[in-house]
Amino acid sequence: MRNDCKEFLEDYISKHIYGKNADYDFYTLFKLYSAYEISCPQDITRAVDEFSDFLTSWGGTIFNSNVKDAPRLMKYSAKALHMLLESPLTTHQECFVKIIKDIAPYKKNTKILDVGAGLYPKASIKLANDFNSLTAIDVQFLLSGASMQAMNISSIEQHFDINTQIQEYDFIIGRRPCGAIEDIVKVCTKFQKPYFIELCNCCLPQPPFQGDENWGWEDVLPCHDPHITFSYPYAYNIGGKDIEPIIHKHTHKMFQKSPPQHVGMRLRKIISQHNADEEKENIT
Ligand SMILES: C[S@@+](CC[C@H](N)C(=O)[O-])C[C@H]1O[C@@H](n2cnc3c(N)ncnc32)[C@H](O)[C@@H]1O
Repeated sequence: MRNDCKEFLEDYISKHIYGKNADYDFYTLFKLYSAYEISCPQDITRAVDEFSDFLTSWGGTIFNSNVKDAPRLMKYSAKALHMLLESPLTTHQECFVKIIKDIAPYKKNTKILDVGAGLYPKASIKLANDFNSLTAIDVQFLLSGASMQAMNISSIEQHFDINTQIQEYDFIIGRRPCGAIEDIVKVCTKFQKPYFIELCNCCLPQPPFQGDENWGWEDVLPCHDPHITFSYPYAYNIGGKDIEPIIHKHTHKMFQKSPPQHVGMRLRKIISQHNADEEKENIT
């Protein structure tokens, strides 16, 4: 660990009183630490171990008597960090990233805003390799702003809503951004910005729609944008451009063998048809 990092953490720890919310303390300290020690994904494995070792030596001070088993907590938290930070992108995340790369209106010069990017924004980190300007917004990030900046990402730790300023961006994206879905559509329509969202159904405003095959979004989002297109699990408006072939190219490749359950009927039918056609070709 760098000396300035060690000094900073020791100073910070000595001035703070820790107590009941031990999980919070652990992650807050990790975020402070990350500003010094994490500047690319390759730093992560070493950093988590180093951070945990450092905290172990400070365990008695950080976690006072309100925390029953500090060493166990640190072990558990370090394990959780390893899992969160080191697991590879899921197939859905990979697919989303590939589609975004193909449809971004100004290619690598597109100024992207990734809404609900995630505590550790894996898709943003991957996209930041290919775009000159990528901003991630979420209510909380695990890494410091400096760490994210070193990975070519500007981070905004804020709740996205209809008042969020989006004028400076060219393209608004969101992968399963839960409660932000409706507001993305509203704001992008207001400012005529292209957007591409991978939907999730956890925050549908009308409970009766929950669990529907179409997830109910077709009953909600067109009220805000009559030109929205649905291609489950995605919804988008890229200024009238037909991007269906691009979506299908990537989803076919990714989900050929087993279409995921949450992909809607329309896409599932296309994938099944594609598989059947391939089988036919193999037989003949
Ligand atoms: C299911 S996670 C998806 C994370 C990431 N996009 C991914 O693909 O793995 C949803 C994220 O959206 C964030 N989120 C939900 N509503 C939000 C809002 N209104 N503003 C900012 N972030 C929001 C949550 O904090 C959470 O990190």
